[in-house]
Amino acid sequence: MSANNLVSINNLTVEFKTELGSVTALKDVSFDLPRNCITAVVGESGSGKSVTSNSIMRLLPDSAQTSGEIILYPQKSEPISITSLAEKDPRLRSLRGGLVSMVFQEPMTALSPVHRIGDQVAEAVLCHREVSKEAAWSEAASMLEQVGLTDVQQKMRMYPFEFSGGMRQRVIIAMALICHPQLLICDEPTTALDVTIQAEILVLIKSLQQKLQNSVLFITHDLGVVAQVADRVVVMYDGQVLEVGDVKQILKNPQHPYTCHLLASMPGAERRTTKESKQKNWAAGAALGGGTALATAEDGRQVREFVR
Ligand SMILES: Nc1ncnc2c1ncn2[C@@H]1O[C@H](COP(=O)(O)OP(=O)(O)OP(=O)(O)O)[C@@H](O)[C@H]1O
Ligand SMILES: [Mg+2]
Repeated sequence: MSANNLVSINNLTVEFKTELGSVTALKDVSFDLPRNCITAVVGESGSGKSVTSNSIMRLLPDSAQTSGEIILYPQKSEPISITSLAEKDPRLRSLRGGLVSMVFQEPMTALSPVHRIGDQVAEAVLCHREVSKEAAWSEAASMLEQVGLTDVQQKMRMYPFEFSGGMRQRVIIAMALICHPQLLICDEPTTALDVTIQAEILVLIKSLQQKLQNSVLFITHDLGVVAQVADRVVVMYDGQVLEVGDVKQILKNPQHPYTCHLLASMPGAERRTTKESKQKNWAAGAALGGGTALATAEDGRQVREFVR
């Protein structure tokens, strides 16, 4: 354990039993989430990002068999071994939505379509704290202001369908933060939004983290997003952690061939690519069991691309 870490994931392996056999979603995953820091987990679809974050929230289905350990070191209270909590343990309730809360990809599905925005955010307070309805409503109003909504009292009387996607995601972030979680998990929170709104939400998440000084686990498949938002990055592939480190260091000098490949596939990478890094990327292809092939670029040029 280190006093600087809020969460330690140690040798986490998750296997799902299905009718067609077993699927190993995570293989011996280990990394830490430091306090007061945004850690991004990046990797392609199916690499195990959501299974990792759902393991922290203990949201895996019964078909999941888990080994290894996740330990949470809350401020001012005893460490909690998340992986060994019994289903009926009261600490599980204080964990979900209390110590740890989550923002999902699709803001519409996380909100009830038939309840007013204000009632939904206030309900998040009432679920975890014994306060009056009036106090919960005014806390909800103040949190909605902090996530950048204007005319809050009027908006709190509206329904989710009257909000844009970006406004709904701000509401979800307010609901996630209203009980002051020590860890905020954002699982692809901007994927469903258009590019301009995506940039605004990233700025919001970063500025709220700096203000609240909590830890954020930010899941994405996009290294461009990692560069904008994260302090540290964990690169995952096929249920395994390939590389962990400071974001600037990893973006500047990636050590694993797969990270080089991810960097090379970012928009604009062609312009930044040096002869040396091209060689590294092609080595990445070979290391992942792939190769290169000629393809026709948009401007008609023949370019060599990595294929698997
Ligand atoms: N309930 C389940 N039953 C069986 N297999 C599952 C289950 N949930 C996840 N998996 C498998 O575990 C692996 C990791 O899935 P996970 O959802 O963590 O990927 P991901 O990195 O979050 O991908 P994406 O970017 O598409 O969200 C995948 O192979 C997936 O099919
Ligand atoms: Mg996912």
